[in-house]
Amino acid sequence: MHIHRLEKIWLVFGMSMLAVFLIMLGVSTFAMGMQTPGSAHAHALDPTRLEETAPFDKPGVTQTGDKEYEAVLIAYGFGFNPDKIEIPAGSTVKFTATSSDVVHGFEIPGTTVNFMVLPGEVSHLSYTFDKPGEYLILCNEYCGVGHQSMFAKLIVT
Ligand code: CUA
Repeated sequence: MHIHRLEKIWLVFGMSMLAVFLIMLGVSTFAMGMQTPGSAHAHALDPTRLEETAPFDKPGVTQTGDKEYEAVLIAYGFGFNPDKIEIPAGSTVKFTATSSDVVHGFEIPGTTVNFMVLPGEVSHLSYTFDKPGEYLILCNEYCGVGHQSMFAKLIVT
């Protein structure tokens, strides 16, 4: 069988690239210890046992300092627990969230709050709410038939 010279070059190039990428993957996994998020790091938890896993055994808002709050939320199909959060204006809220079932989103339109909430993982994000008003916490990951009705309220007084 005759293979054209340019085709040979292209084949060798393609196979070398494949080898290079596989070696890079192997080195980063085994020599550098890189893993996908969630594979047994400090944040991992059992999504089926949230009632007995702190801090998710007590979802809600707690004051942690002067104008500082921590909001612990559980996302589920189809809502958030708690479904209403109230804080005074100027407060910095550290959101700590996880999911009890599938992947959900956590977005507050009009702010930079936007992250994913995953089962078995804890997501953190801090944001300072200067403007009083009623904010919506939305799920922006399609999570099932009730996705569009999955929301909570954040009230800044
Ligand atoms: Cu939860 Cu969409």
